[in-house]
Amino acid sequence: MSIQEKVEKNIGLLIILAICVISVGGLVQIVPLFFQSSTTLPVEGLKPYTALQLTGRDIYIREGCVGCHSQMVRPFRAETERYGHYSTAGEFIYDRPFLWGSKRTGPDLHRVGGRYSDDWHIAHLINPRDVVPESIMPAFPWLAKNELDASDIQQKMEGLRYLGHPYTDEQIRNAPEQLKGKTEMDAMVAYLQSLGTALKDI
Ligand code: HEC
Repeated sequence: MSIQEKVEKNIGLLIILAICVISVGGLVQIVPLFFQSSTTLPVEGLKPYTALQLTGRDIYIREGCVGCHSQMVRPFRAETERYGHYSTAGEFIYDRPFLWGSKRTGPDLHRVGGRYSDDWHIAHLINPRDVVPESIMPAFPWLAKNELDASDIQQKMEGLRYLGHPYTDEQIRNAPEQLKGKTEMDAMVAYLQSLGTALKDI
């Protein structure tokens, strides 16, 4: 029996060999990405989130915004004309975990930073219908009432610094001060206004 016949008649062997072939194909595509500067280095001008933006990001995660909004502009004309420059890997170096998402009940938010005023965002989050009458986005009025809790911001930033985010001692020392007297709405708006701005001028 030739090798070909043996493999074709033995389904277990065929499965194992198919997995080996697919794994090699996968590794050849994936492994180089870990060593390529375009995917591992931050784009020029990218800064790690400030204490306020970082807190806003956690609230974004808590409220499930990622369930309706992606943060990933794909490199297609229909997308770039609507949202702006397509997303690049180097913009997400300080996103842990990244919030690319895949569900677009609402528009992509990666380039929303600077598109609207802070006041627009506040009105929109308190009641989307006030600024976009046909909106089906839920309202998040409690964000304006909840004060920020600064008790764990320093540990969070230290954890991120351990993973390579370049926070200075001073930034970590001043973090609780930055959150003092601020609401969850302030943090959320600061976060939204920072999105996608490192590449804005391209
Ligand atoms: C159930 C789905 C849903 C959820 C959850 C949701 N949104 Fe939306 N969002 C929408 C839809 C639909 C729109 C488009 C209509 C509008 O502008 O209100 C939208 C629009 C937006 C816009 C305006 C984008 C643009 O380019 O015009 C922003 C900013 C936004 N959402 C932020 C958020 C934030 C922050 C959260 C979490 C606190 C959130 N959304 C949660 C559905 C959702």
